[in-house]
Amino acid sequence: MQQFETDILIIGSGAAGLTLALSLADSARITVLSKADISSGCTLYAQGGIAAVASAPDSVESHVEDTLNAGAGLSHSDVAQFVSEQSQPAIGELVNYGVPFSRRIGEDGEGGYHLTKEGGHSHRRVYHTADATGRAIEMTLLEQCQAHENIELVAKAIAIDLITEQKLGRNTERKRDRVLGAFVLNKQSDSVVVYRARSVILASGGASKVYLYTSNPDISTGDGIAMAWRAGCRVGNLEFNQFHPTCLFHPKAKSFLITEALRGEGAVLRLPNGERFMDRFDKRAELAPRDIVARAIDYEMKRLGAECVYLDISHKPAEFIKQHFPTVYKRCLKYGFDITLEPIPVVPAAHYTCGGVMVDLNGESDIENLFAIGEVSFTGLHGANRLASNSLLECIVYGRSAAAAIKERLDQIPMPELLPQWDESRVTDSDEEVVVSHNWEELRHFMWDYVGIVRTDKRLQRAKRRIDLLSTEVDEYYSQFQISSDLIELRNLVQVADLIIQSAMHRKESRGLHFTLDYPEPTQDETAEDTILTPENYSG
Ligand code: FAD
Ligand code: SIN
Repeated sequence: MQQFETDILIIGSGAAGLTLALSLADSARITVLSKADISSGCTLYAQGGIAAVASAPDSVESHVEDTLNAGAGLSHSDVAQFVSEQSQPAIGELVNYGVPFSRRIGEDGEGGYHLTKEGGHSHRRVYHTADATGRAIEMTLLEQCQAHENIELVAKAIAIDLITEQKLGRNTERKRDRVLGAFVLNKQSDSVVVYRARSVILASGGASKVYLYTSNPDISTGDGIAMAWRAGCRVGNLEFNQFHPTCLFHPKAKSFLITEALRGEGAVLRLPNGERFMDRFDKRAELAPRDIVARAIDYEMKRLGAECVYLDISHKPAEFIKQHFPTVYKRCLKYGFDITLEPIPVVPAAHYTCGGVMVDLNGESDIENLFAIGEVSFTGLHGANRLASNSLLECIVYGRSAAAAIKERLDQIPMPELLPQWDESRVTDSDEEVVVSHNWEELRHFMWDYVGIVRTDKRLQRAKRRIDLLSTEVDEYYSQFQISSDLIELRNLVQVADLIIQSAMHRKESRGLHFTLDYPEPTQDETAEDTILTPENYSG
C-alpha cells in the first residue's frame, strides 16, 4: 500500500480548499484532493454572487444586521462581525487572483463593480460575474493553483476516514486528539492509500444530496461532516438545511437553479393562475429571506395541488435579462422557455447545509490541526438560515484565516511517523450492488418527505426508525465487502441524515429553516440555543 507525505492535506477543491491552498503555498507543500473532477463542487455552480461591503450607504453594521436577521436569532454576532469586516480583503484577494467581477458602466464609460441584490440584503452588496460567479471564482483559483509548484491537485481520490492519534491508541493520555492523516481511495487504481500530513483540512462541501430534490451536484454527500463526527468532533445546527425557493421545474433539468438575483432585479413569483402571492406571507414579498419564500411556495403548492409555481421577469427589457442572466436565459431556452417572454416553472430544492463541523474563528475543529472550512463547517455565521451569498464569502474568509493560523504553527507540528495500512483482510467483492443504490434512493425519499421544509414529531420519528434500520444494514455491508466510492458516500449520507434527524428532534420550536407543525412558534430569542451533538449526547 502506498503511503504519501505532505505538509497540508486539503480534502476538497472548491472555493474554500483552493483559497487555503493558495494562501499557504509559499510556506508548505500542499496536496488538494477531489473525489471527482478537480472542479466538481458547488462552487462551480454558484450563480448569484459573493456578498461584501463596498462603500456607503452600505456598512459592516448593516451587513451584520442583515446576517443576524436572516439567522433568526442564532447567528453568532462576533462571527458575523469578523466575516463582514474581512469581506473587502476577501474580494480584494479574488480580484488580485484575476476574478473578473461584472462592472457597471457609468455615463463616462467608466465604472466600479456592479453590485446586485438578493433576499434579506438591505443594500446592493453582491459582487458577481453575470450569473456564473462560482465558475469565475473556481476557474481563476484553479488556474493559480495549477501554476504553483508547491500545490499538487489530485482528482478522483475520495477520502474515507481521518487518522488520529487516539484512533491509533497513541498518546491516549492527552485530552485533545490530534489528526495525523487520512485513508483515501484512489478511484483510478481502485486502491486505498494513506496520506500523512501535519495538518488536514476538510473543505468537502455540504450534504444536500441527502434530499431527493437538490440544487447541488452529486458530490454533496456530507463526507467531511461524517468523517469528522466519526473521528470525535462535535457537529452543530444540522437541522437547518436551506431549501432554495427557485429551481427549474422540468423533468430533464437535473438540479438547475434559477438565481435569487432575478428576484433582486425585479422578478416576481406567481401562482399557476398568474396571481402574485408573496406579499401575503411577508412585507418584503419576493425579497424576504429564503426560508420564508420556500415555505410560502411549499404552502401554496400543497394548498392548490400544484406541481410548481412560476417566476416571472418577462416585464424587464429582453436585453437587460440576456446581459445579466445569460446562463439562466440559455439554459431555460434549451428546455423550451424564453424567459424574456414567459414565466419560469420553479420548485424549492435542498440547497445548503447551514450546520456542520464545529470550528473556531480560525476554522479549527475539536481535533488539533484538523480544520473545517466552507460549507462543511459550522462557524456560527448562518444561524438558523443563511443570508444569500454569504457562503462563498465564508469560504474565502475562513480559507484565509485558517491558512494564517496554520502558517504560524507549522514549524512546530512534526510530520507524523509511518501510519498503519488499511485493513483489507476481511473484505470480499460485493454480492449485491443493488443494496447500495436501493438504500440511497430510499434515504433521499424519506428525508424529503419526513425531514423536509415542513416537519412534525411523527414524521421525524418515522425517519428515525428508518435511518436506524439503514444504518445497521449499511454498517454490516461496509464491514463485509470491498470498499467502493458509492458505498463510502452512502455510509456518509446515512450518518449525516441521522445527525440531521437527531438535531431536528432536539429542537422543540420553529425557527428559521426548521419549521414544525407541532411547535409552530419560536421560543424567546434570548433562550434560543444552537443544537450541538457530541459523542456523549448522541443516540446512535
Ligand atoms: P464545494 O465547492 O462544494 O467543493 C467540495 C469539494 O470537496 C469538491 O472538490 C469535492 O470533490 C470534494 N470532496 C467532497 N468529499 C470528498 C471526499 N470524501 N474526498 C475527496 N474530496 C471530496 N453561495 C453563495 O455565496 N453565492 C451564490 O451565488 C451561490 N449560488 C449557489 C448556486 C448553486 C447551484 C449551489 C449548489 C450553491 C450555491 N451557493 C452559493 C453555495 C456555495 O456555492 C457553496 O456553499 C460553496 O461553493 C461551497 O464551497 P466549498 O469549497 O465549501 O465546497
Ligand atoms: C442564488 O444565486 O440564488 C444562490 C445564492 C446563494 O445560495 O447564496
